Amino acid sequence: MKSKDPAKNTFAITTPLYYVNDLPHIGSGYTTIAADTVARFQRLRGKSVLMITGTDEHGQKIQRTAQSKGRSPQSHCDLVVSGFESLWQQLNIQYDRFSRTTASNHELIVKEFFQRVWDQGDIYLNQQQGWYCVSCEEFKEERELLEDKHCPIHTNQKVEWRDEQNYFFRLSKYQVQLETFYQERPEFIQPESRRNEVLSFVKQGLQDFSISRINVDWGFPLPIDPSHTIYVWFDALLAYVTALLDPDSEPTLENALSKWWPINLHLIGKDILRFHAIYWPAMLMSAGITIPGCVFGHGFLTKDGKKMGKSLGNTLDPFELVKKYGSDAVRYYFLKEIEFGQDGDFSETRFINVLNSDLANDLGNLLNRTLKMAHKYFKGQIPDINGEDIAVTHPLKTIGTSLGEQVTQAYESLAFSQGCEAILALVRSCNKYIDETAPWGLYKQGELEALAQVLYSVLESVRLAAYLLSPITPNISNAIYEQLGFSNDFNDKSLINSSENFVKQISWGYLSKNQILGQPQPVFQRL
Ligand code: MSP
Repeated sequence: MKSKDPAKNTFAITTPLYYVNDLPHIGSGYTTIAADTVARFQRLRGKSVLMITGTDEHGQKIQRTAQSKGRSPQSHCDLVVSGFESLWQQLNIQYDRFSRTTASNHELIVKEFFQRVWDQGDIYLNQQQGWYCVSCEEFKEERELLEDKHCPIHTNQKVEWRDEQNYFFRLSKYQVQLETFYQERPEFIQPESRRNEVLSFVKQGLQDFSISRINVDWGFPLPIDPSHTIYVWFDALLAYVTALLDPDSEPTLENALSKWWPINLHLIGKDILRFHAIYWPAMLMSAGITIPGCVFGHGFLTKDGKKMGKSLGNTLDPFELVKKYGSDAVRYYFLKEIEFGQDGDFSETRFINVLNSDLANDLGNLLNRTLKMAHKYFKGQIPDINGEDIAVTHPLKTIGTSLGEQVTQAYESLAFSQGCEAILALVRSCNKYIDETAPWGLYKQGELEALAQVLYSVLESVRLAAYLLSPITPNISNAIYEQLGFSNDFNDKSLINSSENFVKQISWGYLSKNQILGQPQPVFQRL
């Protein structure tokens, strides 16, 4: 995701703001892992990054959940929020802002924004009739519904009939402006399939949507008519803006938009594409605010083909998964095994096989056996040789030389799976190369120069793999770097990285000769 203005060295990224009807499940974890990986990658390459996550706490869905648990809405939200914070910590998520829609500064931002839209004449009172899914917090077209008036996403929930006065936002007024915008900024909606989905939806003609409720108390009162509360989605999208405020600055739109706006990337699941790709830009147009860089809608994690979700109750407990296998394993599996953008089913057998094969065997054992040889044959030092001393036709150097650029491209386009595959291809070539060159034989024959080349080129390739994997598996990358004799900490967010350092590190040949190596230890325990 390139910034529109290449001179701008900031990068702001958001996850959706999750509903707090229940503790987070692995679906919420999935988006957040991906966002954290992008944030870490952008930091690594020298950008100043702001990663935003948070919670969406108003609306009927939350009000009802709190009621059913006998709690006040606020105390219910506080309880669930602590669950989110704890999961993010366990998944090693380094967010910068946690935006809660119940935060007091948020109400002021919503009010100011509402006023701008009101002043444009884009809000009016009308009668709303239609089928409403409380789990989606969205009106549905009759033709979208499943048998017996069930929601197509929350297939166990019936939609409810509504016939009430609501305030509406004049979305239809922005039909042409939006269509022009999509033409001018083809990268705004990604991947391509989602863009097409949006374009064909917009082509059918946009209808105004209601932005207030009269039967829901749990929300901000509408500034112009306090007998209504603001519709949860109108409020929630704006919490991305509130999140940009520095903690001690006055909550005004001007302050919020001063440093990090426009947000570079909104990472979302495909279920909430319309809100982000149609409603949100139209709301911003109305308020005279520039539109973010990109909305990327990824696929669903499914179980037996159905979207995993809190409302359907078919989820996988991420706390259990991390406790059992560790954060790097979980992060790696979901990003490597599911092509970002597509749906993917989870299977524990597949999970174990992939991790054992990629991380324990191919990568972990490779480092372990090479380090042992370096200890045995070169007294625990990198051999006395530089990357430049190795011929450009060398099999590992050839792959390694183009890998940095290739994986950078993959991260830029959120093709995590392809990035991992490319890194793993180098690792597998290393294993093959060791088997073919048989360094133990070279040692016996006294061919120390050839031996030095073999060990240097493998250790350097493992280093490069670890560096490029670090946004996904920071702990494993730390362990590898430490054993190679470095003192980097890929989890240290305060480290100022530079783009120059990034370019050096992604170049094959960075490892210095004679560096003292650490003791070989497994970097990933076989599951
Ligand atoms: N509160 C709204 C978002 C407001 S953003 C201003 C919301 N919340 S949610 O908790 O229901 O879902 C948020 C996101 O969680 C989804 O868009 C998606 O990114 C992620 N996922 C929830 N279930 C998922 C799967 N089963 N699979 C993948 N991602 C899923 O919608």
